[in-house]
Amino acid sequence: MSKKILITGGAGFIGAHVVRLFVNKYPAYQIYNLDALTYAGNLENIADVEDATNYTFVKGDIKDITFINDLFQKEQFDAVIHLAAESHVDRSITNPNAFIETNVLGTANLLNAFRDTCKGNFEDKLFYHVSTDEVYGSLGKTGLFTETTSYDPQSPYAASKAASDHMVRAFGNTYGMPFVISNCSNNYGANQFPEKLIPLFIHNIKNNKSLPVYGDGQYTRDWLFVEDHAKAIDLIFHKGKNTETYNIGGFNEWTNLDLIHLLCAQMDEKLDREKGASVKLITYVKDRAGHDRRYAIDATKLNKELGWKPSVTFEQGLAKTVDWYLENESWLNNVTSGAYQAYYKKMYEV
Ligand code: NAD
Ligand code: TYD
Repeated sequence: MSKKILITGGAGFIGAHVVRLFVNKYPAYQIYNLDALTYAGNLENIADVEDATNYTFVKGDIKDITFINDLFQKEQFDAVIHLAAESHVDRSITNPNAFIETNVLGTANLLNAFRDTCKGNFEDKLFYHVSTDEVYGSLGKTGLFTETTSYDPQSPYAASKAASDHMVRAFGNTYGMPFVISNCSNNYGANQFPEKLIPLFIHNIKNNKSLPVYGDGQYTRDWLFVEDHAKAIDLIFHKGKNTETYNIGGFNEWTNLDLIHLLCAQMDEKLDREKGASVKLITYVKDRAGHDRRYAIDATKLNKELGWKPSVTFEQGLAKTVDWYLENESWLNNVTSGAYQAYYKKMYEV
């Protein structure tokens, strides 16, 4: 069936994998990728689908109400898959307002525009909101986040995502807008901006730079390969039930230190370095303010109801990720030097 789908944030890390999957798998869909190309947006991430006939890139900001309303009026989208966001916890600590503006107000702008263009007829329409497990707060030594865990966000990033989740549910309840929300654990894989733990540490190990471990390094995260997240989004988009929430995660908890040791071992081998060479780069630094101790997702519902499970183990996914960063040195160099920002100019402003 033909559909016109707006994917927001498709030049970012996860969005690029979602755009690629939808463009290639569903030739009958018209995929619009809306992205403001902030520091985290990089069109090189999806250069391979640039010329596809069912793909259109739109540069624009979800904070810009007039622009968003005009786009929705013009294109009359059947569905929205919303990923555009400010996404880095450390940045939210230094500049919380940027997170409120994009993640809360930007989401509200999309919801209003979608509601207005549907004009009360929501048949075959869907607003899919991509969210995070961080809305649930921080766990102690035991327990897992389920879909009914109370929200308890602890960082400005998590609070802004929680607010946007609430707004999506409020639009469903108040206006009857069909929606689904998924809350996923920490992602890793190709094209992740090297400010997040795994790509930053790959970059630093390669360049023999120190590895800044926050606090005691015993913080725990639940890691999922980004392509498995994209496949879960595809499944939930097509098979998820209206108004439902789905937690996405691979039951894959690692303390930061254990993860870093595994990464160092894989990198030593791939870079032909002496065993234990990279671990020596670990440097303990000041802890992140309000650092959440542990996240862990219970993905039973997604597995039981929709049959989803991750396709790779963490060791396999991490090895693929390391290979990708080592084979795509120019991507990493462009990102770290800022050169990637010239790509849009070259491609679209000729
Ligand atoms: P990212 O920072 O890599 O990409 C975000 C994208 O959104 C960028 O391309 C950026 O240019 C765009 N963007 C930012 N502000 C915008 C605005 N005002 N208007 C239009 N576009 C804008 O983020 P990511 O890691 O790919 O995360 C994508 C989504 O998934 C986010 O909503 C995030 O909360 C959620 N999520 C991320 C993770 C993770 O581990 N990275 C886990 C769970 C959920
Ligand atoms: P991050 O990739 O920023 O994801 P999130 O904070 O959303 O979970 O961080 C993952 C974990 O790694 C988190 O516990 C913070 C820690 N961390 C470091 O110890 N050093 C670093 O330089 C970074 C970026 C993160």
